[in-house]
Amino acid sequence: MPVISPALRDTLEDLDRRHHLHPFTTHNELHAQGTHIITRGEGCWLWDAQGRKLFDGLAGLWCVNVGYSCAEITDAVHEQMRRLPYYCSFFNTTTEPAIRLADKLASLAPRGLGHVMFSNSGSEANETALKLIRAYHKLRGQPQRTKILSREFAYHGVTLAATSMTGLPGCTKPFDLPLPGFIHAPAPNAYAAHRESDPVAYGQWCIEETARIIDREGPDTIAAFFVEPIQGAGGVIVPPEGYLGKLRALCRQHGILFVADEVITAFGRLGEWFASELWALEPDFINVAKGLTSGYLPLGATIVSDEIADVLIHSGYLAHGYTYSGHPTTCAAALANLHVIERDRLVEHTRDDLGPYFQAKLRAFASHPAVGEVRGHGLIGAIELLPREGKAALTPTTMLGGKAAKLAREEGVIVRGIRDLIAMSPPLIATHEEIDFLFAAVEKTLARLWD
Ligand SMILES: Cc1ncc(COP(=O)(O)O)c(C=O)c1O
Repeated sequence: MPVISPALRDTLEDLDRRHHLHPFTTHNELHAQGTHIITRGEGCWLWDAQGRKLFDGLAGLWCVNVGYSCAEITDAVHEQMRRLPYYCSFFNTTTEPAIRLADKLASLAPRGLGHVMFSNSGSEANETALKLIRAYHKLRGQPQRTKILSREFAYHGVTLAATSMTGLPGCTKPFDLPLPGFIHAPAPNAYAAHRESDPVAYGQWCIEETARIIDREGPDTIAAFFVEPIQGAGGVIVPPEGYLGKLRALCRQHGILFVADEVITAFGRLGEWFASELWALEPDFINVAKGLTSGYLPLGATIVSDEIADVLIHSGYLAHGYTYSGHPTTCAAALANLHVIERDRLVEHTRDDLGPYFQAKLRAFASHPAVGEVRGHGLIGAIELLPREGKAALTPTTMLGGKAAKLAREEGVIVRGIRDLIAMSPPLIATHEEIDFLFAAVEKTLARLWD
């Protein structure tokens, strides 16, 4: 076991405290509690510096779809590193892994989405889509289409524009965002709106309100609508029946491009390669990252419709891209990862077996006294938590999710705390016994929540 000595652990924690600014962290709290240092991963399990073994119920950050220690990926990376560790795709060059991955993604994506531009993250995949959309409308003689619609509770990343699309005040307010021209429509979060008894009717109200926003802003000033099919970091918000289809139709009616942000939902998590297939979204763009390499290396991709790509291809110089766009080593990791997902039929396995098993276990918590609602699809799920006094006693500061996530870690599993809920998205390779272990730990967590 990779237990490190108490002296080394102290040294690392001290260095971390002194020099490391962490993402999405309250530093005072971190420094008071000490950093949780993870040292090893295998399958669905992680080991920390104390030698404790934890089940990773979130698959890293919703991304380690094939689990840790997948030899096919590490071998492919090693082999590519030895042969050609880096070359760019600028100025009429590229590398074989970049070509093969673009081809692979085009073959997996829904029909008509046959072009790919690479980046390094989900934020950059979204940022790339934003720039291609502006260029496209300008080339098509509609330069006034610059406004971007997204939704409350959305999470689209952390660059200035991606944060502007994000609909979580905790992410936008500290930075005086959104930028002008970024507009938020309501999300179908019936539970937060106290409309959980009729989510379909609430979804319909969201559509009508979105239509009013489009009219108010002027339909021909709106460039695109960015949509996570299931809103992940905003609290695993599952769209009610009919909602996404109506949203898609509304965009089509007004010439507003429809962008599926599938950074979490692609590559099997919902039992399809893309959630866009699940809900027949026919998007103009699909943006992916995370599960594309199962998190082994940073890689984002913006998958573009052939119609839009055709306009961009015939417009001269495309002045966008990153030093590491199509990095051969990250693309080799993605190709190996996609091969494993296909070979082991992880998408089908999630759809037919593990996903339904996970959802059945999740739904069993619906009647628990500390639970207000459960929701999910495939291998993603959330449990809304209640205080002893019930839902009416929830406030913006109750934050039961953080408390529960901490307890769950003591019970041996990692889940994510968000507001008053916990979110889960285990690796697609989990066994039934491992899912049982996860939910047994959740059960013990709930039993301690009101202590
Ligand atoms: C739906 C969605 N879009 C974009 C992002 C941002 O991705 P990254 O952190 O790789 O920039 C995330 C990250 O959680 C996400 O969930």
